[in-house]
Amino acid sequence: MKSVRVFAPATVANLAVGYDVLGLCLDQPGDEVVIKEGTSPGLKITTITGDKGLLPYEVESNTASHAALRLLEDLGLTTMPVEMEIHKKMGMGTGLGSSAASAVAGVYAMNAFLDEPMSKAALLRYAVEGEAQADGAYHADNVAPSLFGGIVLIRSNTQLDYIELPVPEKLVLAMIYPHIEILTSESRAILKATVELNQMVKQTGNIAAFTASLFNNDYNLMSRSLEDLVIEPQRAKLIPEFEQVKEIALHSGALGFSISGAGPSMFALCHDHDIAEKIAQMSKSHFDNKGIGADCFISKINTTGAIQID
Ligand code: HSE
Repeated sequence: MKSVRVFAPATVANLAVGYDVLGLCLDQPGDEVVIKEGTSPGLKITTITGDKGLLPYEVESNTASHAALRLLEDLGLTTMPVEMEIHKKMGMGTGLGSSAASAVAGVYAMNAFLDEPMSKAALLRYAVEGEAQADGAYHADNVAPSLFGGIVLIRSNTQLDYIELPVPEKLVLAMIYPHIEILTSESRAILKATVELNQMVKQTGNIAAFTASLFNNDYNLMSRSLEDLVIEPQRAKLIPEFEQVKEIALHSGALGFSISGAGPSMFALCHDHDIAEKIAQMSKSHFDNKGIGADCFISKINTTGAIQID
């Protein structure tokens, strides 16, 4: 019986200076989706693992199947008998793009099962629609890097106009996930709807300079640019010990440090593996000593994105 299994990786959205418009792809963790021939007409979810019973089996509501269903609709294949298994291999609500990884895995697996009627690029809008099921917002800063890999800039979320940016070879991240819960919807809801003109001037300077630093392999400029004047100051108060751990990371030699997506995970972008390792260890000890606990790991930037693994 025909069956395909796909892995779609976790991502870091925003990258300090690009709220809703910048993201990068991690090596691990990620979600897996299996698509196989079904026995009755239409798409059905047969199995979900690793979700602590939280995800819906209803095809329209689930991010992975929603994305796949939109693809089937456009291809006129909604009555084709097909079954989906979803294997969550990463925590939900961690700030690592869990719902985006599921949406990407769902649509990528369906396209692979159908022998690739659509290009990878054409799958983006289905995955974004799938992820929008989870947080009600339409933004591609997790979905695009999970699908394409690398570092992606979204010029327009409405038009899904995106640019794949160069990935300087030395970049490596220390990822820090403190054991607290932040709902993405809440983390978005607390943000002010307006930005002061002087903040706008500094933030646009920073995102433009950060982008230029990737083209020029300029780690010094990268470091000067990775300063978020708009979102981080508002969200940092949701994460205990944020300022202390940021201080540890920057003092240890990170190029930049901020919140991963909507949090609570944080990232330290580094140009040296040993520095990233040290930051991960020190951050873990810090959160453990405070009785909060944290999972910390190192990841290069994954330039492949979603792949079929079986
Ligand atoms: N850009 C999004 C945010 C990522 O920061 O809310 C999380 O969905």
